[in-house]
Amino acid sequence: MTLRTYPRFITLEGGEGAGKSTVLSALREVLRETGREVVSTREPGGTPLSEQIRGLLLDPHHETPTIDTELLLMFAARAQHVRETILPALERDAWVISDRFTDASYAYQGAARGGDPVFIAELERRVVGIAPALTLLLDVPVAVGLQRARGRGAADRIEGERDDFFERVREGYLARAAAEPARFRVVDATQSPQTVAADAVAHMRRLIGEVS
Ligand code: TMP
Repeated sequence: MTLRTYPRFITLEGGEGAGKSTVLSALREVLRETGREVVSTREPGGTPLSEQIRGLLLDPHHETPTIDTELLLMFAARAQHVRETILPALERDAWVISDRFTDASYAYQGAARGGDPVFIAELERRVVGIAPALTLLLDVPVAVGLQRARGRGAADRIEGERDDFFERVREGYLARAAAEPARFRVVDATQSPQTVAADAVAHMRRLIGEVS
């Protein structure tokens, strides 16, 4: 695998309702307090064009995309996001925290939808080319996460999937974490938001200690 790992690149992953937004704010705050430049961003999205692609992907009103359409739109958004937002920040030694990245495509389009992981790896190598040094997987049982997410209002196209889809997403993420233990830290996201954030911050502090 010829992905370049950037030491100041952190990604957050998890199913629906795992609490990524609270964790992202906590991580950003800690980095800012220590005077470090931090760029926080999200996928699909993170540039004007990629946010437009996000709108297409999550809109429940047009016809159902095929697996390949969904996968390629995710990677189209990601290709733009990497070139326009993530790499310029990393190249000037800023810290970058992305709310989801390529692992989400392996979990959602791969494990849950049945997309070919070899094809996903090929896209990753050819159009992404980079990897985070730390991925925080906020793990929560599907029923708990969905109850939180569905309390937030109207479901987007992916949130409207059936529970067994999200079971496969969760299994997909946990399998990736098990396969790459040096990069992943699994955080028990059934804990209180403060405890989840504190666990995530502790993992990030260890990385900061290694990098700077
Ligand atoms: P969010 O709800 O965390 O903002 O993410 C938007 C949705 O997009 C979420 O349901 C997960 C999904 N997604 C994928 O299916 N594949 C991907 O590669 C990414 C980045 C997100």
